[in-house]
Amino acid sequence: MFHTITPEIKTRMLYLEEKDQLDRKDGTPRMQRLRQIPPETGKFLSILAASSPSGNMIEVGTSAGYSTLWLILAAKLRNQKIITFELLEEKIKLAKETFRLSIVEPFVDLRQGDALKNLDLINDIAFCFLDCEKELYFECYKKIIPKLVKGGLLVCDNAINHRETLATMMNYAEKDQRVDVVLVPIGKGEFICRKV
Ligand SMILES: C[S@@+](CC[C@H](N)C(=O)[O-])C[C@H]1O[C@@H](n2cnc3c(N)ncnc32)[C@H](O)[C@@H]1O
Repeated sequence: MFHTITPEIKTRMLYLEEKDQLDRKDGTPRMQRLRQIPPETGKFLSILAASSPSGNMIEVGTSAGYSTLWLILAAKLRNQKIITFELLEEKIKLAKETFRLSIVEPFVDLRQGDALKNLDLINDIAFCFLDCEKELYFECYKKIIPKLVKGGLLVCDNAINHRETLATMMNYAEKDQRVDVVLVPIGKGEFICRKV
């Protein structure tokens, strides 16, 4: 996957990495910032997604599509689309630009709207990357876990830097007999739930 990243994807990834760094320094308001994962988390997600069982790949929280590009590397390998949800119009515009310039439109299904309202339409989830507002994670968890296929993965971002906000969900998941869980200290912390 990483040896065959196209120049178009690489160029857009670098552009978004620079924009994200600038956002964090120049006082851009929080809701306008890209708030992206770092590249090492992107690689980790690609490998997890490529290794997950057969089924749908989804993402909650597209922003400008940076993490989606990493997941698309796995989607290409699996010859399927990743379904990604984003709420904000401005972010949708940026994500569309990302997918057009990176020439990956056949591998992505970008859905605008509140993921919480739209998750009910998706079944047989093999892989889900959860990266929306942290206060929504537990509600998303309750919707996603029953829909994961056996061996399917739910990967939740910001499990270390937002540990307190995510504590209720993570404590619940630790005792949830439907999943095995582990917290991986990469990037901002990835909390992984695997359906047993
Ligand atoms: C942390 S950013 C995502 C960053 C992106 N995953 C990346 O690494 O490139 C969170 C995004 O989730 C979106 N979001 C928040 N609540 C949402 C919801 N209920 N449904 C869909 N998207 C939502 C926000 O608008 C924001 O763009």
